[in-house]
Formats: sequence, structure tokens, C-alpha cells
Amino acid sequence: MSLRHALLALFCLALAPARAQVPDAPDASVGIDSPGRILRVVVSVAEGRAAYRVERLGQPLIDDSRLGFLLRGAEKLERNLELAAHAERSFDETWEQPWGESRFVRNRYNELRVTLAEEKPRERRFDVVFRVYDDGVGFRYEVPAQPALTEAIIDDELTEFDVVPEASAWWIPAGEWNRYEYLYTRSPLREIGQVHTPMTLRTVDGLHIAFHEAALVDYSSMWLRRVEGQRLRAQLSPAAEGWKVRRATPFNTPWRTIQVADSAGGLVESNLILNLNEPNALGDVSWVKPSKYVGVWWSLHLETESWATGEKHGATTANVRRYVDFAAEHGFRGVLVEGWNPGWDGQWFGNGWDFDFTRPVAGLDLESVAKHAVSRGVHLVGHHETGCAVSHYERQLGAALDYYQRLGIDSVKTGYVCDAGGIERQDAVGSPVLREWHDGQWMSNHHLRVVREAAKRKISVNPHEPIKDTGLRRTYPNWVAREGARGMEYAAWGNPKNPPEHELNLVFTRMLSGPMDFTPGIVSLMGRGETPIPSTLARQLALYVVLYSPIQMVADLPENYLARPDAFRFIRDVAVDWSETRVLNGEVGDYVTIARRDRNSRDWYLGALTDEHGRLLDVPLGFLDPTRRYRAEIYRDGEGADYRSAPFDFAREERVVTSSDRLSIRLAPGGGQAIRFVPIGRR
Ligand code: NOJ
Ligand code: CA
Repeated sequence: MSLRHALLALFCLALAPARAQVPDAPDASVGIDSPGRILRVVVSVAEGRAAYRVERLGQPLIDDSRLGFLLRGAEKLERNLELAAHAERSFDETWEQPWGESRFVRNRYNELRVTLAEEKPRERRFDVVFRVYDDGVGFRYEVPAQPALTEAIIDDELTEFDVVPEASAWWIPAGEWNRYEYLYTRSPLREIGQVHTPMTLRTVDGLHIAFHEAALVDYSSMWLRRVEGQRLRAQLSPAAEGWKVRRATPFNTPWRTIQVADSAGGLVESNLILNLNEPNALGDVSWVKPSKYVGVWWSLHLETESWATGEKHGATTANVRRYVDFAAEHGFRGVLVEGWNPGWDGQWFGNGWDFDFTRPVAGLDLESVAKHAVSRGVHLVGHHETGCAVSHYERQLGAALDYYQRLGIDSVKTGYVCDAGGIERQDAVGSPVLREWHDGQWMSNHHLRVVREAAKRKISVNPHEPIKDTGLRRTYPNWVAREGARGMEYAAWGNPKNPPEHELNLVFTRMLSGPMDFTPGIVSLMGRGETPIPSTLARQLALYVVLYSPIQMVADLPENYLARPDAFRFIRDVAVDWSETRVLNGEVGDYVTIARRDRNSRDWYLGALTDEHGRLLDVPLGFLDPTRRYRAEIYRDGEGADYRSAPFDFAREERVVTSSDRLSIRLAPGGGQAIRFVPIGRR
């Protein structure tokens, strides 16, 4: 869409008035099409039970699937229902992102609201709201305040997804010891167990489907559990008290989402998750700065320096100054400092009760380093590793953020290292410690508490070992990124390390949920104990374009960048905030090419990645401005490159191209290619 078009759409917000609620027969069905008549949702009630189904171009996609709840101390909210009323409305607007993969986002859907009411004597009622887009469906429960239901203690949500076409699935397990840091498994859908979302399917006909959720607020995350065949049921992450969710009415659940596209890339280009979130609640967020950062970090994972104080301590005044100077010299805004505060000297994995977030350790003059940074136009990036003692962290939260604000530190990486289910919650000092899950209702509230407190001080937040992303960056644009998958740290010490197909799985699964702080750019291709990283050099550059985040770490040691000036040049140049994104090709787990246009210049960037197989990709440059010529600065795998035998075989070359050209992109096994396109004049 052109800028003019987008602005026009912004001003001519086409809002059809909601149709009046109409009463329906007790056993009835109502349906609604997406605006382009691609998808259709039908909700029906038969013998007191409600179900929905989804069709695409007339073909069944999701068969009649259950809706409802199992509530504590009451009958299920699932039977004796009648379709009391329904209403439809259409919506179409284009909104602007403060930062993102694209500047303008169109939000166009048809909505169907059904009111389900129980027969006497209980007469409880709730609405299910479906938003039907051409590229997917979102639906949520809206439970109004009512005398027979002032509070819902949800033991289970009974939502099901009965997938019709035979499909394979890419998934990681849920409810296991790790949070989300697994390698992806590909299997027939009818063989999965309990999985996290996003989960991506490819049907026998080549259709791509992804299940996830949007706007996870004051609720527990939805896992998916296979019941039988290809029928999946929502399995909510547990709470310490034994239920899954406790909410007073009125309340809404998060949106349950089903994205559908012909190609794998169509899923990546979809904005469904963002569109289902509420608009920006923070007002002016020009203080949120998309940027690159370096840090005292990789050395810690290599174990050449330590978080703990002592001989190997990384966060010393001199060392942090060295990183600040390196950042200033090469134009990076941020410097992350891990191991800056007391608490790292003992066993901090899964034990954060010793952490103090309001003062630095001896050996680090944080005030003077922060001042030095500001004088050089650089900003320290704060670090709050909680070791999962989350209540202990919350007690210090205000003071910790005040401290950073005073030092001019305007972003913080948080951390929740412990096994899944091991979050420590203590409601009052001295009271028993309760165990929570990283993705339960209590943590969904914790993360928003941090994000809101940080926003008050104009600080951005980037959690590691987080709760999964559900698009809340739209509402809280200072929630800039998160981890939530196996990132680059696994290339230091992972057993096994991330194989080349890992990032090709991430793009079409984890990345559908939102930005990831993957921390790319290890140009030394060397992990802990001099162990090789399964990647070519050019691939490390391509990661900056392919794996979207508005904050990108320049993760290797300064001396390693200085030793590879050719490759480093791309990392210095590459943008982090985009006005447009196009997925030019791709298959889940195999390969992908993504082009993005810089928001702050007319440059385009392209990144291509492959798995362990070498490939030749034919890429038309039709995305470039047809009126201009461009200098293509190409960073590619050399002729003999191979991630196993010749990872450093690499070439940088330049050529002049236009939008009518096609490029033959040759990728080595485990390789990649990165290109910057700079306009050099009219055609
Ligand atoms: C795990 C994070 O992913 C990593 O980036 C960080 O260095 C350690 N925790 C310590 O907080
Ligand atoms: Ca991690």
C-alpha cells in the first residue's frame, strides 16, 4: 500500500454500525464470511452444546469444535446452552506502528458476536466474539458481570480445534522442564502430545496454518493438547493454587488465533496477532529507540569472563568503558552490562533471593561509566536477572527502575532463569513460597507490572525466559522484544548447538508471535572451549534481516569484529526499524528470503538463510523502487563455503541493479546471504 493510500485509509475509517442483537432459536447456527470471502466461521448450538467451525474457500478446515469452561464449584459452563442472540459488524482501518516490521498495518475483519445463555435455573451467559480476516480467525470469550457468576475459577478452558485436512506440525513441548528453549520437532499432527503455540501446520494440500493467541492479559497461556486424531484442546498453564485462572466478572479471555495462508511466508506477513491487540496505551513513545547494542555478554557464555566478582569478573569499570568506547566508535546505541549487581557470586540459577538491583558491585563505578556513556552518545542497557525469585524482584522494582532512570539507562533486559514451574512467588515477606509457571496467570500479570512501571520512567523492557509474545507490543510499545526460544547462547554451550535448520523453524513458528532478542552476529563462529558454531560467516549477517527485532545485539567480542572488518561493515550498516517487509520465498525448516525497507532511509535490506542443504534461490528484485538504480552490497558465502568444512569462505561484492533484475542467490550448506541496496540515482 502506498503512503497516500494508507493515510487515506486512516482518515476514512470505515466502520459499519453494529447490527442490533437479534434473538435466535435455542438450536440454531449463524455464520459469517471474511471480507474477501476467503474464510467462513459458523457457530452452532445443538442439544445445548455450542461449537464453531471454519471453512476456507468452501473447504472444511476446522470441524465443529467445542466452546466453554470447566468452572470450580459449579457445573461446566458448556451444557444447556442456547444461542440467545447474535450480532455482526465490519471493521476496516489502517493504523501506524511506532516501530516494527512495517509502518502501516491494515486491520480489516468481519465480526460475529454470539450470546450463549444457559437454561434455567442457573441462567449464566457469555459471549463468544469471532473476528474473521482473510488470513485468519481470532475468537475470545467475553464473560459479563452477572448475579450467578461474580467470579470464575477456571479449572479448564474447553476450547477445541478439530483440524480437518491431514497435516504435519512443527512444535515444541509444553508443560515440560524447560520453558520454550527446545529444538523444533516436525511430525504428523496426529502424533503430537502437548505443545506450545505458535504451532505451525502444513496440510497435505500445502496450506499453512498456525495456532496461537493474542492479548494474553491477566490469564494463563494456552498450550494445545491433542485429544484424539487431529483434535486439539486448550490446556491452560497451571497456577500455584490448583486452578488455571481466577477472574472476577466481567472479563475477556485472550483471543484464540488460527492463521491460514497458502504459503509459509504468508503466515510471516500476517498481522492478525497485532491487530487483535488493543491500540497503544502509552501515548507518545518516541523515547522507545529501535537500536543495536553490544555488551559484556558473549564472554560470560564463553566463560572467559564471569558474572561473579573475582579475577574473571566481566563488569569492571575498565571493561565496561571499553565496550562503551567501541559502541561509540561504531555507532551502536546500547551497551548491555551483565554481572553489574550483587547476587551473582553464589548459585544464582533458580535462586535469585540474593540479587540487589539498586547498587553495583565493588569494582564497577556504574555512575561514572553511565556518565561517560552519555557523554559519548551511548546508553547502558540495564540487566535484571531474577533467578526466578520474582516476588523479591517485585519488592525492589520501583527503586531499581528509579535508579536506572537516574543514570540515564532507558532499557532493561530482565531474566527468569529456572526450570519451568519454578517461579518463586511470596505474597508477603515470611509467608510460604509458592511455585508458578513462567506462562501462568500470575506471570502474565508480573510482566505487565514490569512493563507499566518501566513505561512510567520511559524505560523499554526485553525479558529473557519470558512469557510468550502475544502481540502486546501494540498496546505497550516499550515491550520491545523478548527471548522465548533457543537463541545464540546455545551456540556457545548448547548440547546440541542449534543446527542450521533451527532458525528456519523459528521464522515460521516462534517469530510469528513477535520480535525475538536472538543476539546474532557471532563472526568468530566459535563457542565455549573453541567449539565451532554450525554456521557460515555470511549467515551470521543474514540473521539481522531475517529474525526481526527492533533491538538487535551485536553479540560477539569487539576484538572479533575488528578482525573481520568486511563482515562487520554490514552489521554496522544494517537497519533495525522497517517501513515494509516482504517474504520473497520460504519453506518451514528449509530456507527463507526476506526483504525489508529501512524506515529511516530509502535503503532496502535482504536476508536469505538455508538449512544444512546448499541451495540456489532465484529472487526477483521487484520490491525495489522502479524509478531508481541501486548499488547492491552483497555479503555472500564463498564458492567453497560449507558450515562444516569452510565456514569462513566469504565474499563481499558490489553491483548495480534495478527492480527488473533477478538475483541468483547461492547459499552454502548452513549458509546465508545479506544484501544492502542503496539508491544511487534515477533509472
Ligand atoms: C539467560 C539469558 O538468555 C542470557 O542472555 C543471560 O546472559 C543469562 N540468562 C544470565 O542472565
Ligand atoms: Ca535464555
